[in-house]
Amino acid sequence: MLILGIETSCDETSAAIIKATKKSKKVTLLSNVISSSLPMHSETGGIIPETAAREQVKFIIPVIKKALADADVKLNEIDKIAVTYGPGLIGSLLIGVESVKAISYANDIPLIPTNHLIGHIYANFIDTNQDDIEFPALSLIVSGGHTDLVLLKKHGDIKWLGGTRDDAAGECFDKCARLLGFPYPGGPKIAELAIKGNPKTFQFPRPMIGSRDFEFSFSGLKAAFLRETQLHFPILRTSNAQISWEQITKDKAFSESDKQKLNDLCASLEEAIVSVLVSKTMKAAKKYKVRSILVGGGVAANQKLRDRLQSSINKDQSLIKLFVPPRNLCTDNGAMIASAAFFTGKQTNWQKVNADPSLYF
Ligand code: KG4
Ligand code: ZN
Repeated sequence: MLILGIETSCDETSAAIIKATKKSKKVTLLSNVISSSLPMHSETGGIIPETAAREQVKFIIPVIKKALADADVKLNEIDKIAVTYGPGLIGSLLIGVESVKAISYANDIPLIPTNHLIGHIYANFIDTNQDDIEFPALSLIVSGGHTDLVLLKKHGDIKWLGGTRDDAAGECFDKCARLLGFPYPGGPKIAELAIKGNPKTFQFPRPMIGSRDFEFSFSGLKAAFLRETQLHFPILRTSNAQISWEQITKDKAFSESDKQKLNDLCASLEEAIVSVLVSKTMKAAKKYKVRSILVGGGVAANQKLRDRLQSSINKDQSLIKLFVPPRNLCTDNGAMIASAAFFTGKQTNWQKVNADPSLYF
């Protein structure tokens, strides 16, 4: 079976084609085209929904055409089309949903509306032997908009265990990076500087690490980071304009010890976020006696998070298997939507498919 997956929930426009059969035990990725309006948003410090949607209108058809060409597949060979119908930005979701409704009607191809968050989980099943991922499985979804822990008893049987009460983990990375004048998305930049920093220098809070539930909270951590950076870099208190650290670090007045302090701040922030994510994930894994942990979402690209989860599993001498998608499948893409549709999707008449920005589990 050939599935075309479409993802337009945020700033990306992506189309991918997967080949999958129940017998083959494998989802094979044939193509995955991702077009992003990210450079436009980097300048403004965050995503402007209307700008994102206007760009997606331009990208959607060329992106689908390229996905078909890359896979050497014709539209009339596609068996099903999977599309993200939520959660996300309404303008962006509508581009994907309404485009595929027209394609479905005109070409008589069945549609599978798909939950973006379930897509992040199913990125782990692409080009992986299905039998390797054993149930029950725990999934940690960490992105710019979400931080959730869910339990999968089997395909499609998903129980939400907890999520963030305020900011998502990725949002905390992004907002702290923005405070330092770094462009969106800030997670990769914080991670890059953190490599040269000492994570023990600043004692940032680990919000809710000791709570008995599987809830998270990252807004207090962001506030603590703000206080600490303003204390050490007074320029952040006096400048209303977005200052550029790239510029400041080149300035002669910015000493080597200042540079080290900046790296230490980033390393300490990353340490705090990763510690909370790993602690809650391991607690849930033990409670529900899971056999696999599936990580998904943009923050899953973070190397410290990957390493720390694996070392926690090893330390417990646990047999739990850890799965993290390759980096290009951690951030938003059409392939994960096609994969989720294959395992859990329900075919729906195009007239009944509607964008749902606040869709959850
Ligand atoms: O899943 P995604 O592409 O979009 C959403 O659905 O939100 O995730 C984007 C998020 C951003 O917050 C970005 O800063 C974060 O993923 N991110 C990272 C890293 N790479 C991307 N955070 C920490 N470390 C990274 N290496
Ligand atoms: Zn996402």
